[in-house]
Amino acid sequence: MEPFRTIEWKNKRVLIIDQRKLPVEEIYIECATFEQVAECIRNLVIRGAPAIGIAAAMGMALGALEIGNNCSYEKLKEHMKKVSQHIALTRPTAVNLFWAIGRMNDLISECREKRVEEIKNLLVTEAINIQEEDLRTCMQIGENGSELIEDSSVILTHCNAGGLATAGYGTALGVIRSAFRKGKNISVISSETRPILQGARLTTWELEREGIPVRLITDSMAGYVMSRGIVNSVVVGADRVASNGDTANKIGTYPLSILAKHHGIPFYVAAPTSTIDGECLSGEEITIEQRNPEEVTHMNGKRISAAVEVLNPAFDITPAENIECLITEAGLFRKPYSESLGKFKRKDQ
Ligand code: MRU
Repeated sequence: MEPFRTIEWKNKRVLIIDQRKLPVEEIYIECATFEQVAECIRNLVIRGAPAIGIAAAMGMALGALEIGNNCSYEKLKEHMKKVSQHIALTRPTAVNLFWAIGRMNDLISECREKRVEEIKNLLVTEAINIQEEDLRTCMQIGENGSELIEDSSVILTHCNAGGLATAGYGTALGVIRSAFRKGKNISVISSETRPILQGARLTTWELEREGIPVRLITDSMAGYVMSRGIVNSVVVGADRVASNGDTANKIGTYPLSILAKHHGIPFYVAAPTSTIDGECLSGEEITIEQRNPEEVTHMNGKRISAAVEVLNPAFDITPAENIECLITEAGLFRKPYSESLGKFKRKDQ
């Protein structure tokens, strides 16, 4: 089967697979401006923490190309500040967005003595580097995490922390992919992930393409499958990991961690070190995005509820104590996380 591209830099354009349409249609959106990329992040054409970071970097590269080669360094810097602020306002929770913007701005600061034309080229190269690094990072996460996956086991995952949420390999699904490719006889249970069904629409699509056995459950079935001994481990991704190990991930992750603890099932978080926010001391400091109520009250444009008030937090916080191990490209981190994660600092804009 043809591999899909989550996001691609092509001829001064950014191509993004429209994840809102999957798995029914495979459509790519072409962005020519940073505003278009920002809109794709905001409305979930592209989603998942590392993929959002890559999109932010490519959006900044597009923004830089708007500046004429004869402009001054100061003018470029001023313009890029505006671009950064615009992209930073798209989604608040995934720290990779701010990490990527920070990395692009650091590069600009280091290039004060260079010609604007050269800086623009360097920014494009840096955005592509961020994407390529993510692919390698996720493969290493997969390699490190696959050791934790036992042969003949069933892994429950939530949301989509796969190739679609990254440059192509995935974090939680990277661990599952690597274990499967090593010949382990495993299968996956994917929770559908209301309200917008990243598990049902994206995770099942990705796993099926790769021939990894997967069964779909509704979110409310997780307790049942765990109580019946059907699940051996839980592996999820992360949008932001605080320095004490508290982890923000898709809404519904926290209750899964409690269920796993209750049933004595190991609960793993797989994420790149760019998702660790060393400046955030605990989960209480993480901003939780509140999304449009229509994601809850409507399905496929049709109302499914009475016209009542809605709560729609996109993420919740899993306390560090519920996390058996954090799987990163730099290795496995265990409790106490305040000690093991001590060295990670966020690069902000
Ligand atoms: O709202 P989303 O779809 O962007 O949320 C995505 C998640 O919560 C993922 O689990 C997380 O970003 C990790 S992706 C490798």
